[in-house]
Amino acid sequence: MTTKFAETEQRTAYVGRPLDRLDGTAKTTGEARFAAEHPYPGLTHAALVHATIPRGRITAVDTEAALAVPGVIAVLTHENAPAMKARRPTGLPNMDALVVGTTVNYLATDEVHWNGQPVAVTVAETPEAARHAASLVRLTYVELPAVVDFAAEERNAVPQKGSALQSARAGKGDAPAALAAAPVTVDLRFTTPPHAHNAIEPHATTAVWDGDRLTVHEGSQNIAWMRRHLAWRFGVPERGIRLLSPYVGGAFGGKGMLWAGTLLAVLAGRATARPVRLALSREAVYHTVGGRTPSIQRVALGASADGRLTALIHTSVARTGRVGGNPEQITSASKHLYDSPNIHLAQSIVPLDLLPNTSMRAPGDSIGTFALESAMDELAGELGLDPIELRMRNEPARDPLGGKKLSHRMVREAYALGAERFGWRERDPRPGSMRDGRWLVGMGVATAYHPSMRLPGKVAVRLSADGGVVVRSAFHEMGMGTATALTQMAADELGVPLAAVRVEYGDSDLPPGPLAGGSAQTASLAAGLVEAVGKLRRSVLALVRRAPGSPLRGLRPDQLEARDGGLYQGSQGETYAAILARAGRDHLEAEGGTGLLGFVVQAVRESRSWVRAATGAQFCEVRVDRDTGEVRVSRWLGVFDVGRVINAKTVASQLRGGIVMGLGMALSEQTLVDPRTGRIVNPSLAEYHVPVHADVPRIDIHCLDDPDPTMPLGLVGAGEVGITGVGAAVANAVRHATGKRITDLPITLDKLL
Ligand code: MOS
Repeated sequence: MTTKFAETEQRTAYVGRPLDRLDGTAKTTGEARFAAEHPYPGLTHAALVHATIPRGRITAVDTEAALAVPGVIAVLTHENAPAMKARRPTGLPNMDALVVGTTVNYLATDEVHWNGQPVAVTVAETPEAARHAASLVRLTYVELPAVVDFAAEERNAVPQKGSALQSARAGKGDAPAALAAAPVTVDLRFTTPPHAHNAIEPHATTAVWDGDRLTVHEGSQNIAWMRRHLAWRFGVPERGIRLLSPYVGGAFGGKGMLWAGTLLAVLAGRATARPVRLALSREAVYHTVGGRTPSIQRVALGASADGRLTALIHTSVARTGRVGGNPEQITSASKHLYDSPNIHLAQSIVPLDLLPNTSMRAPGDSIGTFALESAMDELAGELGLDPIELRMRNEPARDPLGGKKLSHRMVREAYALGAERFGWRERDPRPGSMRDGRWLVGMGVATAYHPSMRLPGKVAVRLSADGGVVVRSAFHEMGMGTATALTQMAADELGVPLAAVRVEYGDSDLPPGPLAGGSAQTASLAAGLVEAVGKLRRSVLALVRRAPGSPLRGLRPDQLEARDGGLYQGSQGETYAAILARAGRDHLEAEGGTGLLGFVVQAVRESRSWVRAATGAQFCEVRVDRDTGEVRVSRWLGVFDVGRVINAKTVASQLRGGIVMGLGMALSEQTLVDPRTGRIVNPSLAEYHVPVHADVPRIDIHCLDDPDPTMPLGLVGAGEVGITGVGAAVANAVRHATGKRITDLPITLDKLL
């Protein structure tokens, strides 16, 4: 099967270049206004009161002291707050119900479902008064039994349900029997902790009601569904809601859903008839925005003596909340990475009385590749084979499950180039053999893998008689450079200068864009753009048909090249401006992209035809202090295949950022949940350690830049693949340095002593 994309051989005047982000200056000079920075006359400030029990009911509320704080306007609880509608059932066409992070109908119930659940909101003239008042609200509870200890609940895990596009169980052959018969085996148990979202911009909402009309400033990855869901919850027309999200200070999956802060800011605005700003404290983010699930995983591998896999078993236990949560595809990379005649993959979940988890950069794949790629390294050790060589011996020609075609695959090339650039040959394979003074030096590799997708969304392109181009779509710019990439693509597709293109985004009044998730936004926009530009070309040619003097008369769109502000065949052609002026037209406009239904049909059809992904090879060097066990990452190289590179600078930054986040996962990040009370005990950056500059070495990124023939403009998405494989590359380097295999993240020094 071929697609129209295979024929898209575009000129690349701008695509591929390392251009600075168009929003960079505004963001770095403070000119950019984030959700909590919009002034309104009469603006009020809200703060949350969090439950202090894991499960139960509120039996009494005492707001007297809170209301006595000067400047306090209201204290909203389930006793006096106007009710929101409950979440409606999910389904076509009401997919927006999926966007709500929990099913709890805040302030419409006396029930408590997790320790930290918002149970009251204060509204005041200043943020200080609101926060102080929140600290004075007294609640009395009756506690109910709660199940909060993930490790203790492993045995109660139930099989996870799959979805149309992701099965939770997969396999072929008889993996347990093949494992038992294999001459060389490894069988390892891995554990990874929960992780919290720590975007540089904590979640914030400014909500302004005007009758039934509502304006919401919110950092969002999912404008269209959020707006739709707000309309449902507050019983107002969707058209009357405007959600503005031009600047987002990082998101990583944490701003893909609607969490309590947004709903309660909107509710507080309605209750007080004043504009409300609710800027969550860092601690409130931990208590109200889901994070990454913890996991328990088993990876068992069997191989022949020459290093060919005969059995691959990967199973996982993760958690959800009892009041929501997204199960993750933890074993997904194990479906696609290695050729083995016998494969068994199964995912299980434990529902707990905790804040439901949510997506966090490469959900499933980041922790799943930690387990799989650690086990592959251990198997290489057992076989006495170089870990890269082991991977090469098991590199599949087609997808290992079901034999579908791989749209393109460059894992071999990534390792070959990486090994050369990293100096892999200098690695002495014996553990503990490489030293630098007091430091034990280790080198490790791991494969990066993230599926490549597209999502529904529309793009409108307007071509004006003055030569200007406006591209409009309610997509999301969280700092990854999408707006810049789209500007580059639009300029090339139309053959106009970069400066002639203006991209409008982050506003629900624009055509609905794709949600920014699954590393799919740029490819989804590219598909819409290509379609819209195709329509525009046909409209331009329709104008030419009636112009006897035009050199373009009688030519088909596929005979033409877009350049120099117009369409040309060889040296013959005309500018858009000239064509529109002659026709007396002010502008032409066209829209491309798919709606939800079209998308589902396309996704199911394409998933039958091929498997596609972004892949890479991660190379890590660590230094481990032989006395204290301290691990320092001293060098990093990632070689990636993300299809065609649209902007060499922003793509490298995305991949580098993913690696930095992966270093946090490998070495320091963990949300600590008290197993008795379900309370998060380290809800701050002082005690939840993300990597800082001093923890991160120079990270070299290389992209193979080979267009995927099945994707629009050949790009496969670069947002998440960077974090995959990182945990394993670090663990494998630590194993090489010390001889110790650490299977429990994060790799803190106590585990190495
Ligand atoms: Mo994401 S974890 O698809 O923002």
